[in-house]
Amino acid sequence: MKTVKVNLGSRSYKIHISAGVLGELGRHFKAYPDVTKVVVITDKNVERFYGEIVTKGLQTYKQDVSVISIDPGEEQKSLPSAEDLYNRLFELDMDRRGLIVAVGGGVVGDLAGYVAATYMRGIAYIQVPTTLLAQVDSSVGGKVAVNHANGKNLIGAFYQPKAVYIDPQTLKTLPRNELTQGLVEVIKYGIIRDASFFDYLDKHLPEILRLELGILEKVIENCCRIKAWVVERDEREETGLRSILNYGHTLGHAIEAVGGYKGHRHGEGVAMGMILATSIALRMGLTNEKVLEEQRQILQRAGAPTYYREDTEALFDFLCHDKKAVAGSLKFVLPVKIGKVVLKEVDAGIVKEVLAGG
Ligand SMILES: NC(=O)c1ccc[n+]([C@@H]2O[C@H](COP(=O)([O-])OP(=O)(O)OC[C@H]3O[C@@H](n4cnc5c(N)ncnc54)[C@H](O)[C@@H]3O)[C@@H](O)[C@H]2O)c1
Ligand SMILES: [Zn+2]
Repeated sequence: MKTVKVNLGSRSYKIHISAGVLGELGRHFKAYPDVTKVVVITDKNVERFYGEIVTKGLQTYKQDVSVISIDPGEEQKSLPSAEDLYNRLFELDMDRRGLIVAVGGGVVGDLAGYVAATYMRGIAYIQVPTTLLAQVDSSVGGKVAVNHANGKNLIGAFYQPKAVYIDPQTLKTLPRNELTQGLVEVIKYGIIRDASFFDYLDKHLPEILRLELGILEKVIENCCRIKAWVVERDEREETGLRSILNYGHTLGHAIEAVGGYKGHRHGEGVAMGMILATSIALRMGLTNEKVLEEQRQILQRAGAPTYYREDTEALFDFLCHDKKAVAGSLKFVLPVKIGKVVLKEVDAGIVKEVLAGG
């Protein structure tokens, strides 16, 4: 069992990473003796694979375990879905001493976390992420949210879980394309903060793609450690440090949005976004070609796209209208070298040139 502590004073918690932990949650939950009732929130795909093993394990801890299973998909991260969940919790007589266990990808984690943050002014919840993206990113850091017609994740809270339990074995049933989305975030961690981790990924990518559990545990641990380090220093995105996690994301979000969220997936957008951000850094003389090539190669080996060839004009327009555009300049997280990024204002003209392939 590998453990990463997230130090946030009275809101501190531990992330436990271990192959097989999914079936042993009951044993671990004995650390929370005062809980009256446990409600697992999951989605139908995850329930099909893991519903039984999770419930059986949890029943060794509390007899009163209920499961609420939502339809899979980003559309579920909505206020109507949250309201459905509140209704179900009231039907189950869930009170303030109940515990929500979110078992699934980022959609389940964000929605169940948001419901936990708001139901009766907040009840305890535990994250059990089952996609690579959720294991290295969305389950750690306490950002919970639902989407709104005005944009993604606009209704939400900073609400930390009581603990996170990660079982890399769940990745065996994850569709390959979902794994790629998570791998892009994994690679991002190396680029923003840890050159030796980047080298480790470069060396061990074949084992990661073969889902070798020992290597996966190490990789997930390292990502959680980096995310925890950032979150501890900027829990509510106030000092600017947390923005380094958004490397590749301003451009990535624009790529997703311009495609109407139907073209490129999040990780794909971020992969192309990191390459474009590096091209901007290169154009500004902040970094060198090698930094670009190293990223491109590892991302391609991980199965992610690294060239954006679609509507670069629409992309530029989107960026300029995005809230981050201020008086002719745009803010980007840019790499200086592998392991170090900086937040910089970039002249819009430079962005336009780079997007146009200059
Ligand atoms: N809170 C944060 O800090 C944060 C950070 C990054 C992303 N997010 C959010 O995370 C969401 C994306 O999360 P995601 O990529 O995990 O998507 P997801 O939750 O939609 O899961 C992807 C798909 O995989 C299925 N699935 C999950 N685990 C599985 C398993 N082990 N085996 C087989 N199938 C499985 C799901 O049913 C779904 O169909 C977005 O809504 C995004 O906004 C939040
Ligand atoms: Zn991301």
